[in-house]
Amino acid sequence: MANVPLGSVDQYSPGTLTRVEIGLHPLAIAVTKEGMIHIIDDLCTHANARLSDGWLEEGCVACPWHGAQFDLNTGQALSLPATGKVNTYPVTICEGQLYTKIDSDTTSTP
Ligand code: FES
Repeated sequence: MANVPLGSVDQYSPGTLTRVEIGLHPLAIAVTKEGMIHIIDDLCTHANARLSDGWLEEGCVACPWHGAQFDLNTGQALSLPATGKVNTYPVTICEGQLYTKIDSDTTSTP
């Protein structure tokens, strides 16, 4: 697992979804209106929409294409048409900087 810096935590505002690409690996950084940060794959398991283009609801993110919801803590699909879970990633904040860990083989560019 590689430790991945994602910049200043201040750039991620409450109530927002932000796409970041780590090499070939797209992530969605979700910040709830309460300020809790979650990091998940930015790829809906139903038909590959960008979850970062969706919207936040109580503890979950909703897909912009067909409305499937995913739990931000577990990545579990909570509603159809998605049935597969998305990966979730650890959140670390150190001296105002946001970090996560992802498999190093998905962070390299071709
Ligand atoms: S692409 Fe996400 S619910 Fe269909």
